[in-house]
Amino acid sequence: MTHSQQNKTYGISMIGIGACVPESVVTNDDLTKLVDTSDEWVRTRTGIRQRQVVSGDETVADLAIAAAKDALASAGISGEEIELIIVGTSTPDTIYPAVSCQVQHAIGAKNAAGFDMALACSGFVYGTVTAQQFLKNGMYKKALVIGADIHSRFVDWYDRNTCVLFADGAGAAVLVAEEGAEDNFLASDLHIDGSKGGELTLYNETENCPLVAPRSSASPHVSMNGREMFKFAVGVVPKSIKATLERAGIELEDVDHLVLHQANIRIMQAMSEKLNIPPEKMITNLEHIGNTSAASIPIALNEAVLKGEVKPGELLVFCGFGAGVAWGTTILRWTCVDHRTEKMATFQKSLANAHNS
Ligand code: COA
Repeated sequence: MTHSQQNKTYGISMIGIGACVPESVVTNDDLTKLVDTSDEWVRTRTGIRQRQVVSGDETVADLAIAAAKDALASAGISGEEIELIIVGTSTPDTIYPAVSCQVQHAIGAKNAAGFDMALACSGFVYGTVTAQQFLKNGMYKKALVIGADIHSRFVDWYDRNTCVLFADGAGAAVLVAEEGAEDNFLASDLHIDGSKGGELTLYNETENCPLVAPRSSASPHVSMNGREMFKFAVGVVPKSIKATLERAGIELEDVDHLVLHQANIRIMQAMSEKLNIPPEKMITNLEHIGNTSAASIPIALNEAVLKGEVKPGELLVFCGFGAGVAWGTTILRWTCVDHRTEKMATFQKSLANAHNS
């Protein structure tokens, strides 16, 4: 960074949003072939009716790249203009190269820096807040933040406690810095608490060097204490949202929509009650998408934007929470003038047709 950059101030905005979910659908009824469960149990306890999962050789990078391209189209910019790529993922196809490197190559972001963040369901919010810092200090002008996860390769499909919840997908957003402009990110709040790390874990299967004592075996699958994760979420999220609103000098009534991590409809209902927010302000889509971990917030936002539910000028709260445990909130004014006019029209037409049929 040069001295002249240090004296300048930059306003940050989110100007594009995009998503990609795999095509293969697994319904609750399908799951009854694998575990002792029922559509009724899963719908009433979680709000989830179906989830989408990768098949064949589909990778998390494939989903991240498709979401990135969708977000670039939404922003109306080319991949070459992107200078920073942050990918929130805890389920990369390869430990290295990082998913951010694969995205960089695929979108032709010739001059970009990038890195991955393994913060599970908080990955997108952590990525967004991190990108803001690079943009605010003038180091970069355009950043791509992606949340992408494929938990279908990491859950035990014979464990009914976890297999009914998780799903695959990617969501992406473009953030830009404009010199002297108003900052549309109003405040943020980030936390981790490793003392509760054991409540939701995913070990890898690797072994020690054969010349030393072997590792004691750990499950290579997602292992979760559902009740504790529920309590954790309902305990910390309202506090984090309130603290962030206070920092921004905004009243809760002024917020137009909350886009929370889509973990469980009952968690969202509990939060609506605790914060006294009308349920219609909560953006939800987990009924047909499931819990896509780091991808859930941008996927839900993208759908709400395509539907016309979220409009430019509105105040939005994002809050991610999950394994780590980690959680974070950011508040922004939505200023994206979406360039995907044809896609939006087609999406809204198909919704209207479905409604009328
Ligand atoms: N189908 C049918 N029964 C199931 C089941 C399933 N898929 N999963 C669990 N059960 C059973 C349990 O075995 C238990 O039976 P028991 O009473 O005979 O022992 C009973 O249902 C109640 O289990 P419990 O774990 O208390 O249910 P719950 O109401 O807490 O719901 C979760 C379980 C996982 C849905 C819920 O705790 C949850 O959503 N937690 C948060 C998880 C989360 O969001 N994690 C990600 C955070 S990012």
